[in-house]
Amino acid sequence: MTSPPAHAHASASSSTVQVEDVSVIYPAKEQPVVALDRVSLDIRQGEFISLIGPSGCGKTTLLRVIADLEQATSGRVLVNGMSSHDARLARAYGYVFQAPALFPWRTVLDNVRLPLEIHSVATDKSRAVALEQLARVGLSGFEGKYPWQLSGGMQQRVSIARALGFEPQLLMMDEPFGALDEITRDRLGEQLLALWRGDATTARRTVVFVTHSIPEAVFLSTRIVVMSPRPGRIVEVIESSLPAERTLDIRETPEFIDIAHRVRLALHDGHETSGGGASQGPLAPLGRGLG
Ligand SMILES: Nc1ncnc2c1ncn2[C@@H]1O[C@H](COP(=O)(O)OP(=O)(O)O)[C@@H](O)[C@H]1O
Ligand SMILES: [Mg+2]
Repeated sequence: MTSPPAHAHASASSSTVQVEDVSVIYPAKEQPVVALDRVSLDIRQGEFISLIGPSGCGKTTLLRVIADLEQATSGRVLVNGMSSHDARLARAYGYVFQAPALFPWRTVLDNVRLPLEIHSVATDKSRAVALEQLARVGLSGFEGKYPWQLSGGMQQRVSIARALGFEPQLLMMDEPFGALDEITRDRLGEQLLALWRGDATTARRTVVFVTHSIPEAVFLSTRIVVMSPRPGRIVEVIESSLPAERTLDIRETPEFIDIAHRVRLALHDGHETSGGGASQGPLAPLGRGLG
């Protein structure tokens, strides 16, 4: 008697994000910018995906298209089987921006409450949810402070707590730790993995994380999507063999070093093949983005 492996059914039906042949072309004076060129990516439920690549390769654009903050010029995006627009209305995901984007005149608690308030959740309830999410990111006791009274790492934790308000199964994060010192970044990385894995009350989430740090991508991810610019493309997708349970000392292991090496090679290949390389093209493209 044979039965199919237990994961067979789950994986067939559990695509969280389907990006199909998506292009995004921004009009520009000189020449249109092809921010994404026919990108396809299937993200399964429970994965931790990192998008990595040099500045201007379309990482933010891809995240914003998935989140319905940007429209694809062509192609299609499904989130939980719905259009990204319907998924946004259903509050299927939380989004963490590159800068914490907190309102300085609101307390930490009121910043975390804001999205709930906008969706007319009763004050008692939104307060309770905000306190719970703040506890989850280790900020109990700071609810009455103002953002400017907190360190950069704490501010970014506030914005993560805010993104968790509706208990989204899908979390999208655009270089959330980019501006932080390395020690803070490491600690937040570990905390983020714990959030991703979930606990007795919450299931494992799906995370799409943008970074340009190789060690950060390798430490956090179950899969690493390497992108290259001009036009923005996926050059390689690297599957991680590291266990879901990991601590920072995993960075010393041969497996970690090997995956980091593969990511570095893919980034290098991406640079070689993309147009506009200084050695091959006569014209450096005008108007490089800020990235
Ligand atoms: N709103 C916009 N208008 C015009 N060009 C844009 C816009 N947003 C991004 N771009 C361009 O699209 C490309 C990809 O940008 P982006 O997705 O921000 O890259 P990354 O996040 O990887 O640095 C860049 O060349 C950038 O200058
Ligand atoms: Mg970006």
